[in-house]
Amino acid sequence: MKNSINEETGLEFSIKAIAPDKQKSDCVAVAVFASAKLSAAAQAIDRAANGKLSAILKPGDFDAKPGSTLMLYDLPGVAARRELLAGFGNAADMGAKEFRDGLRSAIRAMQDASLAEAALYISDVAIKGRDVAWMTMQAAIATLEGVYRFDSLKSKARPQRKGLKRLVLGFLQEYKGAAAALERGIAIGEGVNLARELGNLPPNICTPSYLADQARALAKSNKLKVTVLERKEMEKLGMGSLLSVADGSRQPPKLITLEYYGEARKQKPVVLVGKGVTFDTGGISLKPSAEMDEMKYDMSGAGSVLGTLSAAAAMKLPLNVIGVIPATENMPGGKATRPGDIVTSMSGQTIEILNTDAEGRLILCDALTYAARFDPAAIIDIATLTGACVIALGHVASGLFANDERLAQELEAAGQASWDRVWHMPVWEDYQEQLKSNFADMANIGGRPGGSITAACFLARFTRKLKWAHLDIAGTAWKSGRDKGSTGRPVPLLSQFLMTRAGW
Ligand code: BES
Ligand code: MN
Ligand code: ZN
Repeated sequence: MKNSINEETGLEFSIKAIAPDKQKSDCVAVAVFASAKLSAAAQAIDRAANGKLSAILKPGDFDAKPGSTLMLYDLPGVAARRELLAGFGNAADMGAKEFRDGLRSAIRAMQDASLAEAALYISDVAIKGRDVAWMTMQAAIATLEGVYRFDSLKSKARPQRKGLKRLVLGFLQEYKGAAAALERGIAIGEGVNLARELGNLPPNICTPSYLADQARALAKSNKLKVTVLERKEMEKLGMGSLLSVADGSRQPPKLITLEYYGEARKQKPVVLVGKGVTFDTGGISLKPSAEMDEMKYDMSGAGSVLGTLSAAAAMKLPLNVIGVIPATENMPGGKATRPGDIVTSMSGQTIEILNTDAEGRLILCDALTYAARFDPAAIIDIATLTGACVIALGHVASGLFANDERLAQELEAAGQASWDRVWHMPVWEDYQEQLKSNFADMANIGGRPGGSITAACFLARFTRKLKWAHLDIAGTAWKSGRDKGSTGRPVPLLSQFLMTRAGW
């Protein structure tokens, strides 16, 4: 059985085909369903324990709603000291959501019980349209997401709460696809956690230079090619739009490119372009101060590009993938761009900047023009671009915009498969009118109506010759409130998209 070690979290996975009652672990977790229905693994435990499990469930103490858990101790005839019952809801209409809720809660219960080691049986849960490989992959992703903590900046280590160190994925029978599915899940889970870490880091640490250093580190450990362009080189390329955003900042802007070649060099790559605004004050069009701290997440598109490239490289995906990250701060100051300024983009098109807070599109348009040099098979930009997208789709779906129907369908399908979903929005020519400027080729804002659409329409003017899609992740890249933190989305979606493209 193959062992895969996760360096980031120190979590070690293994695969084992063994009856759950025989598995010697600190805890063995099995699925149970509504109406006291037992999964095959739970039935095996019940048989070994002479019906003790079903007897406990009889009185209806445990409703097995998706996400509910019940820890039992010392069931007779069972090798593990603890038996964790994980509720997955109604067995008959199990969907991806219920399954993932069940999984996440099982991992949380293991963490809460301070278990260093546990075994998890989930391959016997039947989900419509999903196979055991998918469930295995999801288990790895959910486990890595569950053990992630952001505590590098707390001065005192957490009170002695042991984290999960070893997880056995238990199978009732030998399953050939387990190792590959686990490996892919680990690659994606680590990519998600990398994106989360970068998002969560404060803006005084996670600067454009820091992102460049992270890209260099990733390149070193994964044999990728990395290029970092400085302000001077961007000036030479004529990136007047990108540089206008950086003007107010003391932090030098960086244009980062990472190249991963998983197939012959002559094959056209998929290019991912991620918005890397490491802090968005709005510039001279200053944002209100409430929750402005959350604008440290404005580099989440960049984080997702780094996370996805890390996943692609880790799983040795047979596909060429290139990441391009325009990284800058958006600050006010004596040298900052003014509302009314007109700049010339690398494409030659001129832009009247009516609002310096619509900066994402200003850096992306030059990055997209630059990325065309890689002759992409498809180009996808990922950006926390508009508050309007949050109003339209909330925190559930990312906004999907595209000038190519097939590419849009591929991304929708990848969203369903990874359960990191998108909603297809229009980029019709009719909306372009709103970007009209009396003084330049276009304005950088289109007014409040359809704000996420006019932002996409702006980008569309720079990608006419490309197969292009745009993901607005303003609502999905992080959570606010008590559970404030980066989600790592859409790394699962992008990874799945690339896997499908690679024929996996
Ligand atoms: N980074 C913001 C978008 C954003 C806002 C993401 C709120 C998440 C939550 C972006 O740079 C921005 O400020 N957009 C403006 C555009 C407007 C000025 C046309 C917005 O959405 O208000
Ligand atoms: Mn802004
Ligand atoms: Zn922004």
